[in-house]
Amino acid sequence: MAVALNLSVSNLVASGVQRAVYLHPNDRTKLIKVLKPDGQMPNRWNFNGVMDRVMPSTRIRQIRKEYTEYLRVMLQHPEPDFRAPMSHMFGFVSTNVGLGCLTENVMGPDGSVGETLGQKMKRGTLTDSQLTLLNDTIDALFVHSVRASDLNPNNFVFGHRSYGNVLGPEECVLVDGFGDIHAIPVRSMGRWLNRIGLADSCKRLARNTKLLWDPKTRRFSHF
Ligand SMILES: Nc1ncnc2c1ncn2[C@@H]1O[C@H](COP(=O)(O)OP(=O)(O)OP(=O)(O)O)[C@@H](O)[C@H]1O
Ligand SMILES: [Mg+2]
Repeated sequence: MAVALNLSVSNLVASGVQRAVYLHPNDRTKLIKVLKPDGQMPNRWNFNGVMDRVMPSTRIRQIRKEYTEYLRVMLQHPEPDFRAPMSHMFGFVSTNVGLGCLTENVMGPDGSVGETLGQKMKRGTLTDSQLTLLNDTIDALFVHSVRASDLNPNNFVFGHRSYGNVLGPEECVLVDGFGDIHAIPVRSMGRWLNRIGLADSCKRLARNTKLLWDPKTRRFSHF
């Protein structure tokens, strides 16, 4: 008998455009992201929205790209103290609401789901040290040439990762929007183009957060 993990609405953390995000029912350090069935997707008229309707396989490709990018970065950095700028991904789990991507929960100090950059900007709670954490993560995206075309304020989460039984220090983690489906393979030209793309995404992120972006130092600051 096949057994699927049972997820209920009470475990629902967020319901984004593409995915529903659930707390793992018996491991608070994990989240499960389930791809929404096509019918539940709102009609969007931007490129990705149209592509989703014309060719739903682009969403599957997106997940594949996300995992591939995660694998690339992790396999290039086997050193034990390496801090991944994006969320760790642990493969798949079958659930009653569809195929789930098992991922780490970036948690607040009390074990709740961490706050996003978007929430912090809205509430005015982004501290200077958290701004530094954001800049560290942006720096890591550039250094590791991470494909990330969707630097949306809601895709950055502030919180703690679980390392076995202990919570790590506060970090800023990119939880979505990496592994660009339109990106060319990692070559020197790819890296150069990716830097331009990242800088562009940072400029947009600054507009969406009302933070200042300095393209020279590649750092965000408060106005
Ligand atoms: N690893 C994580 N740790 C903590 N919170 C997370 C994590 N992943 C996602 N979240 C929360 O769930 C929300 C939605 O997640 P995610 O961005 O992956 O879904 P999505 O449907 O792809 O979003 P959208 O398409 O709207 O950008 C995030 O904005 C964040 O609040
Ligand atoms: Mg998102």
